[in-house]
Amino acid sequence: MTPVHWNPYLSVGHDGIDAEHQSLVDLLNALIARIDEGGDYANMSDCLHRLMDQTATHFRHEEEIMERADYPDRDYHCRQHASLMDEIRAFDRELAGGKALGPEVTNFIREWLIHHILKTDMRLGGYLEGREAAE
Ligand SMILES: [Fe+2]
Ligand SMILES: [Fe+2]
Repeated sequence: MTPVHWNPYLSVGHDGIDAEHQSLVDLLNALIARIDEGGDYANMSDCLHRLMDQTATHFRHEEEIMERADYPDRDYHCRQHASLMDEIRAFDRELAGGKALGPEVTNFIREWLIHHILKTDMRLGGYLEGREAAE
């Protein structure tokens, strides 16, 4: 499966958020590579856990930023984060139960992440830029 390429069009205009998104893309690409190689359980599990941990940390950072900025749409945004974490935990349970991860898992995470960045995070980035401009 082709890796995800970081593109400037994925930038939401906030350096910290953009840097974390790039790390998530790197970790997702590592998982795609492990799955393509038909990696063993320990390898896949390690990759999935690193992606899961970094995603949780990134979501927490965005949620702190939204809180501080009094972002009006944060409930909806946080619900989206919670729903991806639920999906990733379900993949992890399947893996722990002996089911190998296939490309449908990385496809799902890839589509979710790109869609979330382009729609939901982009709206947050625009709001933060607007606030900065008003200060
Ligand atoms: Fe987000
Ligand atoms: Fe994000």
